[in-house]
Amino acid sequence: MPSYVIAGASRGIGLGFVEHIAATPENTVFALARNPDGAKGLQALAGKPNVHILKADMTDPTSLQAAADAVAAVTGGKLDVLVNNGGIAGESWRTLDDYASPQALIEDFRSVFDTNVLGGILTTNAFLPLLRKGERKKVLSIGSGQGDTTSILEIGQKYSPSYAVTKSAMEMVGVKYAVKYKDEGFTFLTICPGPVKTDMATPPTDPEDQKRAKEVWESFAKIAPPGWKGPMEPVESVRKMLDVLDHTTPADSGKFVSHKGTRGDWFG
Ligand SMILES: NC(=O)c1ccc[n+]([C@@H]2O[C@H](COP(=O)([O-])OP(=O)(O)OC[C@H]3O[C@@H](n4cnc5c(N)ncnc54)[C@H](OP(=O)(O)O)[C@@H]3O)[C@@H](O)[C@H]2O)c1
Repeated sequence: MPSYVIAGASRGIGLGFVEHIAATPENTVFALARNPDGAKGLQALAGKPNVHILKADMTDPTSLQAAADAVAAVTGGKLDVLVNNGGIAGESWRTLDDYASPQALIEDFRSVFDTNVLGGILTTNAFLPLLRKGERKKVLSIGSGQGDTTSILEIGQKYSPSYAVTKSAMEMVGVKYAVKYKDEGFTFLTICPGPVKTDMATPPTDPEDQKRAKEVWESFAKIAPPGWKGPMEPVESVRKMLDVLDHTTPADSGKFVSHKGTRGDWFG
């Protein structure tokens, strides 16, 4: 009975993980959401015997500990796989030097760092005791190619500063855990899901932001494969990411890869 925790499972890719994993009856899935009652897609899965919905905010250690205790009560204290999925985009159409004010920049960076970086660390720490007793010992953190310095230099993408900086930091978080747990059979993987049709990928409505969004998509085209058809459905991305995870071993711990299992190949 492999057990999975999906943190940030209310919608989008996180919900896709829950749906896909729960489709295999032998799996047990714990879906963590900060507002489960308001998550329609998640509630539609509530009747499945292998789905457990828990309330937890990735930035709130108390709620994470309560969720870890609830998981332990079902699994006998073990967990096989943790997916740190929850994340926020922050100010997608700003550059580092054109926020309305220094305070606006500070607030954006702090809130995005809290969720994307500290959220992943706090969630991992809450479930580490269970993962240590699990068989697979795998932690999948959902990063982004926007955090890959080489690709960003290559395509010349200056927007989404707080998001890109935090997604870059997530790679180092994975490396630090990989180093610490090197001899315990753990695999910490940071993975980009590829461009996916979710709320986060919704086009802007402001005309100036639309121009910037067009610029961004043109920059993506510089490294997208010829004939690339645009963002995929969550289920397709989830299937590919889980396939990558299934093929990784502790020798891969600390890597930052795409949904295809390679670095730099962020599209398709
Ligand atoms: N879509 C893409 O093209 C793409 C590309 C690269 C990387 N990603 C990454 O993929 C992950 C999922 O994004 P998505 O595209 O599915 O976006 P989304 O539809 O906006 O969903 C974001 C999810 O994160 C949850 N979340 C945010 N803050 C949280 C917190 N403090 N605690 C718990 N959950 C929290 C949200 O919950 P609420 O409903 O409570 O807000 C929601 O379930 C993110 O890490 C994102 O950066 C997405």
